[in-house]
Formats: sequence, structure tokens, C-alpha cells
Amino acid sequence: MTANDLDWWRDAVVYQVYIRSFADGNGDGVGDIAGLRGKLDHLARLGVDAIWINPWYPSPLADGGYDVADYRSINPTFGDTAQAEALLTETHERGMKVLLDIVPNHHSDAHAWFRAALAAAPGSPERDRYVFRPGRGPDGAEPPNNWESMFGGPAWERVPDGEWYLHLFDVTQPDVNWDNAEVRDDVETTLRFWFDRGVDGFRIDVANAMIKQDGLPDIVEGVNDEQDGNHPYLDRDEVHEIYRSWRRIGDSYDPPKVFVAEAWVPDPERLARYLRPDELQTAFSFNFLRAAWLAPDLKDNITEAIAENDAVGAPATWVLSNHDVARHVSRLARKPETGRGYWLDDLLDLPADFTLGLRRARAATLLMLALPGTAYLYQGEELGLPEAEDIPADQLDDPTWELSGHTKRGRDGCRVPLPWSGDAPPYGFSIDASPGVGGPWLPQPPEFAACTAEKLEADPESILHLYRDALMIRKAHPALGGGELTWKDSPEGTLAFTREPGFTALVNVSSTPVSLPEDAEILLASGPLTRYGSVPADTTLWLRNA
Ligand code: GLC
Repeated sequence: MTANDLDWWRDAVVYQVYIRSFADGNGDGVGDIAGLRGKLDHLARLGVDAIWINPWYPSPLADGGYDVADYRSINPTFGDTAQAEALLTETHERGMKVLLDIVPNHHSDAHAWFRAALAAAPGSPERDRYVFRPGRGPDGAEPPNNWESMFGGPAWERVPDGEWYLHLFDVTQPDVNWDNAEVRDDVETTLRFWFDRGVDGFRIDVANAMIKQDGLPDIVEGVNDEQDGNHPYLDRDEVHEIYRSWRRIGDSYDPPKVFVAEAWVPDPERLARYLRPDELQTAFSFNFLRAAWLAPDLKDNITEAIAENDAVGAPATWVLSNHDVARHVSRLARKPETGRGYWLDDLLDLPADFTLGLRRARAATLLMLALPGTAYLYQGEELGLPEAEDIPADQLDDPTWELSGHTKRGRDGCRVPLPWSGDAPPYGFSIDASPGVGGPWLPQPPEFAACTAEKLEADPESILHLYRDALMIRKAHPALGGGELTWKDSPEGTLAFTREPGFTALVNVSSTPVSLPEDAEILLASGPLTRYGSVPADTTLWLRNA
């Protein structure tokens, strides 16, 4: 094994598989391991280095599987342990790694420990694995503090004997108590369990929320608005000790296992603390995802992320979409300034131009893949999928819909089953779907007909071919992947940077064409040049320097 193999994660392109919606191997309308195994060649041909699979553990699926009932087993809806092991082997055989998702902040209320906690008395060891507290007010009828669930409403639920338990997410997702040694040990056992089966690493769910301040003080507006180390439950400094311990576990394997943190910590300096040499290897730079489609905003966020990560010796980790945000085709279809609104609910009443959204999405991808560091692709972005914006209310599944009192539609629009082939639902998503046996678990919009992998395969100008070409060049070109970036002067509203040896990226984020640099040879373009040979708005070029 060469040093380069050991450091694969420094410049990897990782493909996120939202398993419930990727491909359905048994025709029940829900994606599964069999479906994924059947599509591994699609991923290998795309040219990705690894896949990250969203939670596939037994779960009531109240929050899409982030409500885990048993961390060391497979949800029968998705398959079984033997299929999981076969998938690992087959993915590795194709030269791709496999990352799983660990959810350490909370369990499902269906977890055996939570059942035991409910059956046990206040003050018992069973309750100490969670965050149970008496209520406030004369009869304890008020929640213990003013914290709110991320999905809406209070973060506390009362149980029949009068105690309350904390749930920063859905009411079915009780937070666990990270001061409890059993809780810590159990997660480490889970990490080893999957590492021993050949899993290459983990994405860490809400990696900045596990530690709660002693005494669980109220959030004070104006004081706790930032994640600066003083927030009662976000990005507290004590969380880092957990990752030092996990890193030791990961490093005890040969080759070492890797982690990527999902931590929505806006300050890049604080985010980089998760990436100190004895902590995690990577963390998503979500400020890039949130950036407006405007040159200064993009440039500032890229520069800051690289600088702060460089300071701790870690690569930046770029991402444009995932299962929690509106698909970027649809975000970019709105005004450029709306980059900062990333949920469908932020966008719904804004006028949209989806042709423009797709054009910008192609340009954004070539920008991302030219940056130094690692990049994550979300399933379906290689098909240019838009967000499904009008799923009927009675089919919405995201707990956000209920907990917001039917004011927020939530994240289902980016979780719709993928269109693989054909002209009508389920567009090849379900293998052997017999008519009348129910359809995909979320309805697929008619726009998906134009986005099937089969159709895009047949069109050399399609976004699918653009992704493949970009990944092929990225792999072969010595300047791409890890390394440095140097910004160059460029016309207002554009970005230009070089990577050595001999590579320039030019991104026209302005609304007018700009001229092509002299002596430049085009390696790849996100769209055609104007008929006068200049670079149109919302277009990225990869150039070979003279
Ligand atoms: C993360 C997941 C999201 C989930 C939440 C609670 O943000 O990405 O899907 O709802 O954590 O686990």
C-alpha cells in the first residue's frame, strides 16, 4: 500500500447514496441493498472513489433512518447482513470505498435502551443514558428549559410519570447522555463492529451537538446566537475529546479508517478544530453550499475554508447538495442571492428558471471539482435532477411537516426515488414493479422523464457525461485533487484560479459573456461558448495553460 493509497480521502470524490431512494431491488417501492448492488457499475463508470450510505440500520424511519433502533444490524426493508457484506465486497472489487453513517447524538424511541428507560424509574441507570429532567413550574408541567427541536416545537417531551426527555430532533429521537460511559462505549463498539466488517469510514451525524452544557441553561437570545463555544448544546469544546478517542480507534486499523463530520458550524476556524491532527480527517465545508451564486461570496467562502483547513493540515470538503437541502439545480434556478436559503421552504415563492438552474449547476460542479480537497456528490445530481417541489401534503414524510404545524414542507423534495429508465413512473427505480403494487415511496414528478440515466446516457452533451468527463480528467490530471490553488485577476463577476502544473479554471458567475484567455486550450466546458468564442454567463471552463 502506497502513501497515496493511505491518503485516498484527501482528494476523494464520494457519492452519497440515500439508500431508500437509490434503486429498489425487490419491487416494494423502497430502495434497498439489492438495488444498490445492481447499480454499482453506474457508480464505477461515473468514476467516484467511494460511496457514503445514509443510515441503513433497523429503524421506524420516522426521520428517514436517523432514528436508529439498532446500530449493528440492517433494516429488513433494505436487506440483511449477508447482503451488506456482499455489497462491501462488490464495491471494493470495483475500487471504491464504503462509508456508513453514525448517528451518535440520539437514538430512536424504538431502541431497546429507550424502552428500558421508559419502564425504569426517574433517577435509574436506564434513564441516565438519556437526558431526563423534571419539568419547571409548580407541578412540573413546563419543559425543563426553552430549547427548541430543530424540526420545530419544544425539544422536550413529557412521559407519564412526569419527567421530560430531551429531543433536539423529532420526538421519536431522544438525545443520549454523552456523560454516560455506557453511551460512549456503545458507539465505539458500533464503530469497531463495522470497521471489522470492512467499512472504510463514517460520516458523523450532527457531529457538533452531542455535548450539552451542565445544568442545561436556557438559550439566551443575543448571547447564544453564535456557535462560539458558549452555546448550551452546539459546538461545545468538550466534543473534541470524543473524536480523539474515535481517531485512535480508526488509526488502529491498517489502512486507517476515516471520518467526515456533518457539523453545521459557520465559523471556518471553529470547524477546522474538528480536523486537528488527532481528531477527524474531514468535515463538510457547508459555507460553500450556502454561498450565493456571486463571485465575491464564492471566492470568500472558498478562500476561508482552504486557509482554515490548511492551518490544521486538513483538506477542504466541498459539497453542493445532500439529503437535507433543496437540490442545487432548484436553488440556482432562483436569484443568485438566494444561495443562502437552502431549504425548499426558503425558495418556494421565488420565481424559478430551471434551464438556468441546470446551466449554473453544471458550472458549479466544474468549479467544485477543480478545487483542492475532497468533494461529495449527492445521488441524482449527475442526472441534473431538480427538487420535487409539489409533493402532495398527504404524502410528505419528513417530520418537519408535522412538527412545524404544516408550515414547512421539509426535505422530501430532494429524497424522491431516482429515475433510471423509461418514460413513466417508477422510471426504472423499482426492478420488476408489478402494476398496482404501490409505487415509489415518494411520487416522482413528470420532469424526471427527461432526466433518466438511460436518456442522459444517449446524449453526449448531457450532465451525466459532463460528470464522467470531469471525474476522468480530475483523476488523470496531476494538478487536480490535492494541492494548492492560486487566484488570478479576472473580469468582475468571474473567478479564475490556477492549479499547478498547467491548469486554470475560469468561472463566469456574471450575467455577461467574458473573453476566453489567450493561448488557452479547453479541457472541459460546462456549456458551449458563444458564437463569437467567448465564455457565456454561468459557465465554467477547465483550461490547459500554455
Ligand atoms: C442530520 C441528518 C438529517 C437528520 C438529522 C437528525 O442533519 O443529515 O437528515 O434529520 O441529522 O439526525
